Amino acid sequence: MQHTIAIVGGTGAEGMGLALRWARAGESVIIGSRDAQKAREGAAQIAALIGTTGHIEGADNAEAVANTSIVVLTVPFSGHATLLKKLRPSFQTGTILIDTTVPLAATVGGLPTRTLGVWQGSAAQQAAEMVPEGVSVAAAFQNVSAGLLNGDAPVDSDVIVCADDEKARQVTTELVEKIPGLRAVNGGRLENARIVEQMTALILSINSKYKVHRTGLRFTGLPLPNPR
Ligand SMILES: NC(=O)c1ccc[n+]([C@@H]2O[C@H](COP(=O)([O-])OP(=O)(O)OC[C@H]3O[C@@H](n4cnc5c(N)ncnc54)[C@H](OP(=O)(O)O)[C@@H]3O)[C@@H](O)[C@H]2O)c1
Repeated sequence: MQHTIAIVGGTGAEGMGLALRWARAGESVIIGSRDAQKAREGAAQIAALIGTTGHIEGADNAEAVANTSIVVLTVPFSGHATLLKKLRPSFQTGTILIDTTVPLAATVGGLPTRTLGVWQGSAAQQAAEMVPEGVSVAAAFQNVSAGLLNGDAPVDSDVIVCADDEKARQVTTELVEKIPGLRAVNGGRLENARIVEQMTALILSINSKYKVHRTGLRFTGLPLPNPR
């Protein structure tokens, strides 16, 4: 099934990587930005890479959110709450919001290997508290490096999908598996996002120890098909 996916903060590394992979897979993608012109430039850059303009456009964040029922959030934690508050009136009822945010201390001048305490438990739970009724939140992609997404090779990683709503989990799982190499793993309730978000800080620490940039996660022993 083809979806239309709005990526809020889609001009950053993580958003552009997801946009590239989904547009290449034939999904329709709207890159969102605080600046519509910047969003259109990002979309043009991806269109040039995939060789077609059919699947990708740019818009300001509010317009992007208003025009679809699947929204992916790729902004630094420092802007997370303020932006969600601003976008609240733009969400359609029934929208699925996929939050990729990691509350890294680096977003407020701290270390990338540490996370901030979030009152609700995780960035994803903060999002769930801030969206209007009728919008379901899933947490995913927090452990997938933008460096891997912004390329051509299959992405060698599992993606833990946490959600309280089964439709949100199912749609997120479908979108994960549109990206070659990625495999979705059911991570249970949205509250488990607090663990997944913390794991990113650990991954960044491992990257630093081994002087690499692209560590990914794989779970063994699961009754799941191997990724394409
Ligand atoms: N980078 C990675 O490898 C990676 C991996 C996994 C998860 N993540 C998570 O994905 C999210 C995005 O990461 P990123 O590296 O792509 O971040 P980024 O490049 O720093 O920011 C992404 C976009 O967010 C928008 N933005 C920045 N500050 C904002 C603010 N205060 N309010 C509203 N919008 C703001 C900007 O878009 P406009 O200026 O166009 O509005 C920017 O291009 C983060 O939460 C990160 O933890 C990243």
